[in-house]
Amino acid sequence: MLITFEGIEGSGKSTQAEHLEANLRQRGLDPLLSREPGGSPLGRELRRILLNSGSTDLTDEAELFLYLADRAQHVAWIISPALRQGRIVIVDRYIDSTVAYQGCGRGVHPEVIPELNRIATRGVYPDLTFVLDVEEQTGLERAKGRNAASGSQEAEGRFEAEALAFHQRVRQEYRRMAAAEPQRIRLLDGSDSADRIQARILEEVEAGLAERTFDAGNFTEGNT
Ligand code: ADP
Ligand code: TYD
Repeated sequence: MLITFEGIEGSGKSTQAEHLEANLRQRGLDPLLSREPGGSPLGRELRRILLNSGSTDLTDEAELFLYLADRAQHVAWIISPALRQGRIVIVDRYIDSTVAYQGCGRGVHPEVIPELNRIATRGVYPDLTFVLDVEEQTGLERAKGRNAASGSQEAEGRFEAEALAFHQRVRQEYRRMAAAEPQRIRLLDGSDSADRIQARILEEVEAGLAERTFDAGNFTEGNT
C-alpha cells in the first residue's frame, strides 16, 4: 500500500507522516517512510540543487525534469522494492506535488505532467493520499518557524521565498485534485490539532488496510 502526503509548505505533512509511521510500527508493522525530493542517494543530490535558493538560473523546464528524475530513481530503487516486500510505503510528497507546483504554480505544461509522472513512476500510483489544507499564510509562517527552530540550511528555500499568489495557486490546485479524485484523495483541515488530524488519518488507513485484507481473502477463496 502506497500512502502519500501532500499540501503547501508548513501544512503538517512531515509531522503526520512521521506519526503514521510510528503508529504502524507500534502495531508490529514495518512501514517505510520516505520523501521527495531526496528519497534516494541520487535524489539527495538533486534535492540540494532543487532547494538551494542560489539555483536561480534553473529554468522552469529543467526544474520539472529534475523533480521527475528524482521520482524515477526513488520509485525504482526505494519505493517499488519495498512494495514488493509487502511493506506499507509512506511518502512525504509525490506525483501531485509536480502537478500542483510545476503545473499550476509555475505553469509549465500542466497538460502533460500526469503522463510524465506515469513514465517516471512506471505507473506506481498512490492508494491513498492525504492533502493537508491550510491557509497559505499559516503554512508559510509555520514553515518559517520550523526552519528557524532547526537552523535548517534549507531555510527560505526557493519555494518558501515565492510570492503568496504562487502558494495560492498551489493550494487551489490541491483542492481541485481532491475534488476530482475523491476515491484516492482525502482533503483534511490542516489547521485542526495534530492529534485530531492523526486520528482521522488512522481511521482512513485502517479502512484501506481492512479493504485490502478483505480483497486478498476473497481472492484466495476464489482460487481454492
Ligand atoms: P510540512 O512537512 O507540511 O512542511 P511540518 O510537518 O514540518 O510541515 O510542520 C511545519 C510546522 O508546523 C512544524 O513546526 C510543526 O511542528 C507545526 N505543525 C504541524 N502540524 C501542526 C498542527 N496541526 N497545528 C499546529 N502546528 C503544526
Ligand atoms: P519540502 O522539504 O518537502 O518542503 P516542506 O516540507 O516545507 O513542504 O521541500 C520540497 C519542496 O519542493 C517544496 O517547496 C515543494 C517542492 N516540490 C515541487 O515543486 N515539485 C515536486 O514534484 C516535489 C516533490 C516538491
